[in-house]
Amino acid sequence: MQTAGSAGQGQDPEAALQREPGGDAGQGGTAVINQVAGQRAAGVCDDPKMALYDSIGQAYRATRRADPRIASAIMDALGDVASVVNVGAGAGSYEPGQTTVAIEPSRVMIAQRPPGSARVVQAVAEHIPLRDRCADAAMAVLTVHHWSDVAAGLAEMRRIARRRLVFFTWYPQTIASFWLLSEYLPEAAEVDAAMAEPLRVLARLLPEVEVRPVPVPHDCVDGFAAAYWRRPEAYLDPTVRAGISMLVKTGEETLRDGLNRLADDLRTGRWHDNHADLIRLDSLDVGYRLLIAEL
Ligand SMILES: C[S@@+](CC[C@H](N)C(=O)[O-])C[C@H]1O[C@@H](n2cnc3c(N)ncnc32)[C@H](O)[C@@H]1O
Repeated sequence: MQTAGSAGQGQDPEAALQREPGGDAGQGGTAVINQVAGQRAAGVCDDPKMALYDSIGQAYRATRRADPRIASAIMDALGDVASVVNVGAGAGSYEPGQTTVAIEPSRVMIAQRPPGSARVVQAVAEHIPLRDRCADAAMAVLTVHHWSDVAAGLAEMRRIARRRLVFFTWYPQTIASFWLLSEYLPEAAEVDAAMAEPLRVLARLLPEVEVRPVPVPHDCVDGFAAAYWRRPEAYLDPTVRAGISMLVKTGEETLRDGLNRLADDLRTGRWHDNHADLIRLDSLDVGYRLLIAEL
């Protein structure tokens, strides 16, 4: 278990826990506090989005790892906070050293957290089993679009954090014009647009939020949807697609025609002719944003 900073108020994860843990299922040094029983009672464990990561999360770390430049932008956004709760923490990418507790619903994702990661509680954002104001900050990275009730998740983050909320997410309307979606996989753009509502809710509930663009480096280490904007061949790799939830949700059958056209365009050089401007860029704004709210 990892805790950072002095043992000041709210920095001890045991003290932060609201309920008695259901049991430890530690793996490789990562302690898991299982809140499943309580969540079943609340009806949140049957959430199909959680099931999604129990299936698509199997090989998450094959292509999804923290990109150091994005990690640095997230650290800047968190600022001088001494304790953080990481909500929708997944396998622990971008989790800062001062994380006291991680919240993650999927057992499959939890199992991929590296040894020495912060203590993790199996729970959803909408029902965080931690005490009020138990950490300086709460963060949520590439997860909000999966939540079934963003208003409830945001209220929970506000309740547990004393100073700051940090979200890393993207604008579906901007990513829809990304060449992969606009030229080859419009069905995936539709799937992504369906996830836009959570972000509208977030924007409405956080009117004073600071928004920072996060350009995606051409060699981005984290294989999220637009990470390969300058490496188009990557999208032909099923392992890469398996790490991108909007493509998994769209389905291989639906993607097939567009991927065949992309393969043809790469073979003939047409893609490079059409996108010569991209090859010269080191990073691209594809709609990814950090949202920072002071409490
Ligand atoms: C794309 S992954 C991101 C994980 C991690 N933050 C990262 O950057 O690698 C999305 C995560 O959100 C989690 N998730 C889905 N629904 C959630 C909910 N309602 N509350 C909290 N996390 C949720 C998934 O299980 C998954 O681990």
